[in-house]
Amino acid sequence: MKIAIAGCGYVGLVTGVCLAEAGHEVTCVDIDRSKVKRLTQGIPPMYEPGLKQLLKRNLEQERIHFHVNGKAAYEQADVLMIAVGTPQQADGQADLQYVFQAAKEMGIAAKSGAVLVVKSTVPIGTCDQIDRVVHQELGRNEPLYIASNPEFLREGSAISDTLRADRLVIGAETKDVLDRLEEMYADFHLPFVKTDRKSAEMIKYASNAFLATKISFMNEIASICERTGADVEMVAEGMGLDHRIGPSFLRAGIGYGGSCFPKDANALVQIAGHVSHDFELLKAVIKVNNHQRVCFIRTIQERLGAKLEGNRIALLGLSFKPNTDDIREAPSIPIAHDLHQLGAELVAYDPVAMRQAACELPDSVQFTQTIEEAVKGADAVCILTEWSDIQLFPLHSYKDLMRQPIIFDGRNCHSLQEAEQAGVEYHSIGRRPVSPIFM
Ligand code: UGA
Repeated sequence: MKIAIAGCGYVGLVTGVCLAEAGHEVTCVDIDRSKVKRLTQGIPPMYEPGLKQLLKRNLEQERIHFHVNGKAAYEQADVLMIAVGTPQQADGQADLQYVFQAAKEMGIAAKSGAVLVVKSTVPIGTCDQIDRVVHQELGRNEPLYIASNPEFLREGSAISDTLRADRLVIGAETKDVLDRLEEMYADFHLPFVKTDRKSAEMIKYASNAFLATKISFMNEIASICERTGADVEMVAEGMGLDHRIGPSFLRAGIGYGGSCFPKDANALVQIAGHVSHDFELLKAVIKVNNHQRVCFIRTIQERLGAKLEGNRIALLGLSFKPNTDDIREAPSIPIAHDLHQLGAELVAYDPVAMRQAACELPDSVQFTQTIEEAVKGADAVCILTEWSDIQLFPLHSYKDLMRQPIIFDGRNCHSLQEAEQAGVEYHSIGRRPVSPIFM
């Protein structure tokens, strides 16, 4: 099949290379000229494991192409996909201007009977609106079938999430369109959920909101564990073995970040509001998430003092999660600003996200190329992202390198036993503190 995709971000690019890998002829379109140039040379705009190799292979096989202007590709495509961003507006609603811009360009160019698939996360009813814009506003007479096909890939494991997804959700108004999209994905050999467009759009928001709810729920449990002496890691393990609950997304920490959960949770609250439903539960999920950072800072202040002048603090991990250089809505950013405001001297390390973080962090933050350099002479360490090199960094090394070995672990990278054996002071989330003084 000939496939044209608008948007070379995570969703568009990963979908594009995976569909090319399945043998389709794919053209990805992006308005960013330098991004398109780099992609044509096989250089992805973001760090994502496995993407570069897959991109290179499909460029060599001439199954994937990149363009700034989509017209020619849109005219020839059997399937046109919209995978542009839907950034959050000031009031929390999704900004759909790029979606409609792409839809109009496609609506003008697409051949008769092509399918326009919306992959971007869009409010419920957007596909219906696109249908109206294309057939009424643009006055298009030839059919262009609009479908919803939300994306569930995660940054850091985007390729395997796409090729080995739990399910593919397709929403369309006719069986023929559903079958055509099933055929496009046939080589992926994945289970399909075929439904109507609105339900498909809702599945995406509901899934992200539910996962965010799981995280905030565990963060609340963690707070109670801290006050009662229970251990949230054991609690999560005990809960997760129940098949009805499942073990994933039960990790307590400094809160969820990234370009999706915060934005999509806010958007769903707005969507609910538009149909006069006060989504109280999701509002609480968002509140709890924001509060996690406040609690983390409070723990640091309780130990080091209300003012942090004279304290050199090492921040380990800056990206919103491991295996990505994405720092959007990363808890590390507000935490660093708060510590800076309180007078701390900050040193930061991240294996890949330092260049991106430098633009968002206070100017005075120093960056180091290794964990050792960051923690050397520090009064405290804050673990903010559970990168594997940070998890594997032995706790006893902190003792050797730091001025005083006090560790605030916002991602529960170490066991309490390990901390006790290393002789460090260790504060984590939802577990008792470990300190040579407390032992
Ligand atoms: C999320 C969803 O998991 C994907 O299915 C979805 O396609 C994507 O959003 C999207 O809408 O585009 P992503 O934002 O890449 O993917 O990252 P996740 O792995 O879901 O993690 C999100 C945040 O939750 C991270 O900050 C992570 O540290 C945090 N998290 C995750 C926890 O705090 N605890 C957990 O147990 C799991």
